[in-house]
Amino acid sequence: MSYQPTILAFLCNWCAYTGADLAGPSRMKYAANVRIVRVMCSGRIEPTFVLEAFREGADGVLICGCHPGDCHYQSGNYKCLRRYHLLKKYIAQMGIEEERLSLEWISASEGRQFATLVDKYTESIRALGPGKVFENAKIKVAHE
Ligand code: FES
Repeated sequence: MSYQPTILAFLCNWCAYTGADLAGPSRMKYAANVRIVRVMCSGRIEPTFVLEAFREGADGVLICGCHPGDCHYQSGNYKCLRRYHLLKKYIAQMGIEEERLSLEWISASEGRQFATLVDKYTESIRALGPGKVFENAKIKVAHE
């Protein structure tokens, strides 16, 4: 069996989560590697959420919010975008490939796009292989 990455996806309640929810009843299949965490807005995602996800063994972290201009809270996704760019630099400093963190905009009607995104992102993380930090964390746990 091929390597199965673990991906944590933070989805904003109003657009991305609804889009993901649409994929199910519409019988769209997508990779089962994604564990979804619903947040009210992508602006709610604190940098520590992402860092904790990597520390706890996520091989990739996907953030999905409303398209620019569609945020339910006006500017949450713009805040998220600024944090995202900083976080990418930060995780690179920690030795985590920048590609392991991704931010995408998904609307409530984009179930198909969500399914395609998850499949493509899962493949890209699979190609990267297990995260280094994850391996280190496993070793730590084994010695505790
Ligand atoms: S409510 Fe969706 S990104 Fe703010």
